[in-house]
Amino acid sequence: MRPQQDQTIRAARRVEGTIRLPGDKSISHRYAMLGAIAEGVTEIQGFASSADCASTLTCLHALGVSVARAGDRVQIEGKGLFGLHKPGAPLDAGNSGSTLRMLSGILAGQRFSSVIGGDESLSRRPMKRIIDPLVLMGAHIDSAPGGLPPLAIHGDRLHPIRYQPPVASAQVKTAVLFAGLHADGETEVCEPVPTRNHSEIALAQMGAHLTRSNGRLSVDGPARLSGVRVHVPGDMSSAAFFIAAALLVPNSRLVIEGVGLNPTRTALLGVLRAMGGSIQTAILRVESGETVGDLVVSGSDLKGGEIPPESIPGLIDELPVLAVLGTQTRRGLSFRGAAELRVKESDRLAAVAANLRGLGADVEEFPDGLRVSGGQRLRGAAIESYGDHRIAMAFAVAGLVAEGGVTVRGSNCVAISFPEFFTTLAAVRRD
Ligand code: S3P
Repeated sequence: MRPQQDQTIRAARRVEGTIRLPGDKSISHRYAMLGAIAEGVTEIQGFASSADCASTLTCLHALGVSVARAGDRVQIEGKGLFGLHKPGAPLDAGNSGSTLRMLSGILAGQRFSSVIGGDESLSRRPMKRIIDPLVLMGAHIDSAPGGLPPLAIHGDRLHPIRYQPPVASAQVKTAVLFAGLHADGETEVCEPVPTRNHSEIALAQMGAHLTRSNGRLSVDGPARLSGVRVHVPGDMSSAAFFIAAALLVPNSRLVIEGVGLNPTRTALLGVLRAMGGSIQTAILRVESGETVGDLVVSGSDLKGGEIPPESIPGLIDELPVLAVLGTQTRRGLSFRGAAELRVKESDRLAAVAANLRGLGADVEEFPDGLRVSGGQRLRGAAIESYGDHRIAMAFAVAGLVAEGGVTVRGSNCVAISFPEFFTTLAAVRRD
C-alpha cells in the first residue's frame, strides 16, 4: 500500500480559468468491458485516468484480453461473447465496486469459474444485490459471509429473467443486462427509479438488440457486439467538485469544457440552479450517444433547500460535496432517501457529518440523509478522507472557504477517480 499523504487547501480569493477533466469513469468501464466481449477492436479515446478504470483493464488483461494503453487512448481486442480465458489467479478489482459488480455479469455467463475481489473497502461492500439476479439466471456464486467479496463465480448457461432491482443502482442493472447478453432469449430489467443509462447507450452503439420503454429495459441474447471507436466525455461527477468550488468562492468564474451532460447525470445542475447557482450550459454535440457540452460557473449566493428523494439516484456521487456547499447557503441544505451512501467506498453520511463537525459546522445525521445548517463559518482543521476519494475532494473544496484552510489526511485516494484533482485545483485557485 502507498504511504498515506496529506494535502492542505487554503482559503482562496477566487476560482478562475478554463479546465478540461479526465474522461467519465462510468462510461470508460463499460466500453472496456463490452469491448472485451465484442468482435473486433474497440478504441476508446479519453479513457478515464482513474485507478478504478485501471482495475477494470487489469481484470480484462487477466481474462486473456489484449489491452493497449497510451495515455488516455485504450485499445481492446474483443474476444467475442464466450472468448474470455479462465484467469490464473483471483481477479483484483482494487477499490472499484463498478468493476466487481458489472464484470460479474459477464463472468456469470462464461463457461469457467473465476474469483473476483478487491481491497479492504471493497471487501465490505454489499454484493447480494448482484448475486441474487445472477443466481436466478443460472450462475453459481459463493461469497464471503453476508454476501461480501470475494465472489467465486461459476459461470454457466444462463437463462433470461425479468428483474426488478430492490435498490436503484446502475451497477445492478448493468450486471443483469451484461449477463443477459449471454442468455438465450430476452432479459428484462424494470427500474424502480431511472439511473445512469451509459450501459444502454454503449450496448446500442455496439449493436446489441436493446429495447427501452417506461422504465423497462430488455436485451436479447446471445448477443453479437461489434467493436467501436468512442470518445469519452469529461466526468460530470469530477466536474461537481469544481462546480461547487466556483459557486462557493465569491467573484469566481470557471469554464469546464467537454463535460458529459447525459441527462441521467445532471441532476446536480438542476438542484444548484434551483438554489440560485449561476451555471450556464452550452451543448456542443452528441457523440456516441452521449451529450457533451461546456459549463460556465460563477460565484453565487445560494438559497439552499431540500433535495427531493427522487433526485437522489441522479446525484448520488455528488452528495458529499453538496453537503459541504450547504454550509455556505442561506437556508442550509437537507436530503433524505440516500441510505446507499452508507455502503459506498466509506459510510459517506457518517464521514461527511464527522468532518463537517470537525470544521465547526452544525449538521444533523439521519439514517438516510443529512441536514446541514446554512450561513456557517467553517474553521480550518485536519479531516480524514477515510480512504474515500469523494470525501477527500469534497473537503478540499471546503478548504477554499474555511478560515485557515483544511488539511485532507490520506489525500492520495483522489486517484481512485481523479488523479489530477489537486493540480487542477491549484491551477484555478487565486490567492
Ligand atoms: C455507478 C453507479 C453508482 C455510482 C458509482 C458508479 C456506475 O453506483 O455511485 O460511482 O458507473 O454505474 P450504484 O449503482 O451502486 O448506485
